[in-house]
Amino acid sequence: MDINKLQRENIKNLRPYSTARDEYKGQASIFLDANENSYGSPLEENYNRYPDPLQLDLKDAISKIKGVPIENTFLGNGSDEAIDLLFRAFCEPKQDNVVILPPTYGMYEVSAGINNVEIRKVNLLPNFQLDLDGIAEAVDENTKLIFICSPNNPTGNSIVRTDIETVLANFKGLVVIDEAYINYAKQRTFIKELTEYPNLVVLQTFSKAWGLAALRLGMAFAARPVIDVLNKVKPPYNINQATQDIALKALQNIEQVNEWIKITVAERENLSKELAALAIVKKVYPSDANFILIEVENALSTYNALVAEGIIIRDRSKVTLCEGCLRITIGTQEENKTLLAALKNTQ
Ligand SMILES: Cc1ncc(COP(=O)(O)O)c(C=O)c1O
Repeated sequence: MDINKLQRENIKNLRPYSTARDEYKGQASIFLDANENSYGSPLEENYNRYPDPLQLDLKDAISKIKGVPIENTFLGNGSDEAIDLLFRAFCEPKQDNVVILPPTYGMYEVSAGINNVEIRKVNLLPNFQLDLDGIAEAVDENTKLIFICSPNNPTGNSIVRTDIETVLANFKGLVVIDEAYINYAKQRTFIKELTEYPNLVVLQTFSKAWGLAALRLGMAFAARPVIDVLNKVKPPYNINQATQDIALKALQNIEQVNEWIKITVAERENLSKELAALAIVKKVYPSDANFILIEVENALSTYNALVAEGIIIRDRSKVTLCEGCLRITIGTQEENKTLLAALKNTQ
């Protein structure tokens, strides 16, 4: 893979913004270079200084948990920022295209639209796995990215590993594996494969298992040349200091996160069984994520009945291959009981 051919011409020639702190090396105690407020912040914590643009302390802590070197790690304002930057760095508007595999996470298409990049849709097969022939046919010399979401949102299944490997081995552009829900999956992450595939980008997030959706912190792991391009294109201070501080603190409490993952998976299995026993439920799709896709007799009326009880789920019945389907996030044990009781009442 030639990173120079892959990135947009204007990005190749771009000189990135140089921050005030980029321009000195060594030790200093008086910082009069960035037009900050030298007196402090009207808070207990001080946020008067710009944050580290490359978030090295936070990346170091993430690296200790994930086993991925800092230079192969990019942090974004949610993984949504990484998705957008991949378009901005690698896809020439009105010229390049990307392949997405519906039904899947909606932001790939939205980001493509924002960046004026053609989307080529290759639907998943009825078993929600990859249509490898369809993907091969859709790709041409202007295809820059293929997005594979595994476990997939909204279907919940993991994509067969050997199929992903086939795409990685044959596609000349970047294969973006979105692992937002990987912590709930039986399938192994692809971050251990980074050294094998120069065209692999793995997205993960602090918004799901880590319970930090409000912080907006996402990760992209890839070979050094890809990370270097993302760092060049990103806004200089894309991860604010409060997020860096709080995420560092959260990383010290991984036991709590692992405990919640266990509980969520147990609740998922339990809820799947209970849902399957309801007369209105036609099908419960197996899930590797923290949500379940179900097919019901009448999706809209079930959705509305739950809304009337103050319970919000996601109506996915208009989505490709998901006719009649609802997506339900695994709640607390108490919430799941209330949901089941409400669903029983709708029968
Ligand atoms: C598959 C997938 N990727 C990415 C995201 C967004 O993650 P973040 O909160 O890190 O932007 C979501 C959110 O629902 C998702 O389902």
